[in-house]
Amino acid sequence: MCGIVGYTGTQNAAPVLLDGLTKLEYRGYDSCGLAVVHDGCIAISKVTGRIANLREKTEDGRLIPGVTGIGHTRWATHGAPTDVNAHPHASNDGKFAVVHNGIIENYMELREELLRKGYRFESETDTEVIVHLIEMYYAGDFRRAVMKASARLVGSYALGIVCTDAPDTVLVVREASPLILGVGVGENFFASDVTALVAHTRNAIYLEDGELAELTPDAIQVYDCSGHPITKKISRITWDIQAAEKGGYDHFMLKEIMEQPRAVEATITPRIRNGEIVLDDVNIDLDNVNKIVITACGSAYYAGCAGKYTIEKLCRIPVTTELASELRYADPLIDEHTLLIVLSQSGETADTIAAMKECQRRGAKALAIVNVVGSTIAKAADYTLYTWAGPEIAVATTKGYTTQLTVLYLFALYAAKALGTIDAKEYKRLLTILRSLPKQMQAALDMNPAIPELAKKYHGSPSMFFIGRNTDYAVALEGALKMKEISYIHAESYAAGELKHGTIALIYEGQPVIALCCNDTVTEKTMSNIVEVKARGAEVLAVAFKDNGKIVSLADDMIFVPKVDRLLCPVVEIVPLQLLAYHVAKENGCDIDKPKNLAKSVTVE
Ligand code: G6P
Repeated sequence: MCGIVGYTGTQNAAPVLLDGLTKLEYRGYDSCGLAVVHDGCIAISKVTGRIANLREKTEDGRLIPGVTGIGHTRWATHGAPTDVNAHPHASNDGKFAVVHNGIIENYMELREELLRKGYRFESETDTEVIVHLIEMYYAGDFRRAVMKASARLVGSYALGIVCTDAPDTVLVVREASPLILGVGVGENFFASDVTALVAHTRNAIYLEDGELAELTPDAIQVYDCSGHPITKKISRITWDIQAAEKGGYDHFMLKEIMEQPRAVEATITPRIRNGEIVLDDVNIDLDNVNKIVITACGSAYYAGCAGKYTIEKLCRIPVTTELASELRYADPLIDEHTLLIVLSQSGETADTIAAMKECQRRGAKALAIVNVVGSTIAKAADYTLYTWAGPEIAVATTKGYTTQLTVLYLFALYAAKALGTIDAKEYKRLLTILRSLPKQMQAALDMNPAIPELAKKYHGSPSMFFIGRNTDYAVALEGALKMKEISYIHAESYAAGELKHGTIALIYEGQPVIALCCNDTVTEKTMSNIVEVKARGAEVLAVAFKDNGKIVSLADDMIFVPKVDRLLCPVVEIVPLQLLAYHVAKENGCDIDKPKNLAKSVTVE
């Protein structure tokens, strides 16, 4: 969701910015733009739609020369995705241009104040107030004006700003929105995330909230919120550049689906030593914990829904899963005896950050399970476990989800051992299964060559139901989400036992029902539901183990899953459903990696 980049150095800035924006495309956007300082002026170019349009309009950046600039991909919040609302926004005197990721919550009152003072607004955005504030406070000192303007802002913002009076300087400010500086030689960069930086440098500075940085070609100086210079640590970016490229696959999503056995292996292997799960830096006093609350958004929330069963079963502690957007306003019953588990691939999801802070305020300790190193959630949590999935580029998460779930399994087993709620034999048995998960995920990928054919059969359906019970229901939630977000088919998941209480009224002749049947404690029950929907004309695609002859004879079509204990099965069971969603979306000609209206990293509420 919104990406910002900036450059100052000796190269022409526009091509560098265009390449950086291309790397940030995956975050989700609907318009984009650039501003470059040249010959005492700022040239701005903006378009609705894809970066390809901006490349065309600027002839790959050649039409806007200059060595200092900023760029933006916008995911519309305030005002439609139009050229005028696209960033950068310029001040009335043309001296400043700004790009912004985040939301300015008090923009209405600022806008009124600025209108009263005679400033002219071109766009409907919240962002435009920033650039006029800077112009209002400018008295020859660029940094001072930006600090004064920032002090007036309420909300979240990562800003990149250029000024004609300081033609080789870019200023950036961060408050509750991601922003990383790239340290080069004779050139410096900033971006919303490291994917836009790794082509140029592996040396990064992670800004904290309230900090401002001044970038010139030869130096980066960071200031705290009171304007005092501070020294920041330079971190090494370890992400592999190839990991952020398609590597021969048609789509990032397919590549990331295929990478899952390796990603889950990378999640597990460093955490098992001498037959024991070792979670470095997680020294939670588990005896003090009387309930666990898992919070997240989207697929991360569904990973929590699946992980809940395993933690509860093994640790005998009540676990609830809460949508972060709900939890933050729920006046939750949380105290110092609550362990909060926060799941987030990006580590930057606004609602998840807010829910975490609210629960910490009430005394809970937060354990974050995050993919992006140095992200806001990773830094603000009391304990952090990284998923080590590598960069995930497709908007619809796959390896992000499965590695989050894997960490929940690791935590469940680790905590059960620490609490004494699992005996040595069962611990060893489940640990052996846990270690085999990458192999089982690979098997799940290999044993379903018919999925593209199934996609041809089902892709035209206006709706699909996903049903299951217990852990199968948790997987159904994620399976349906994958289907709707990339294929745009209306797909809903239902606890199979609830069908009779309403949903069965929607079953018509030929209605596809995807029935998940991998949890042996409830398979028989789900099979009764299959019979009921079939009696009303449904076309049933069952997801089950190969040796379950009864289901094979009942269902119209089958997706197979290798046999895995029900407590750890969801991470394997979801894999063929990801593939099904992918192939259905492909049949429907959808933009799989960048589905319409969606953003990868939802950094605003
Ligand atoms: C967006 C993404 C989803 C993701 C969710 C939570 O909706 O499209 O794939 O599950 O945000 O993101 P997070 O980064 O917190 O896991």
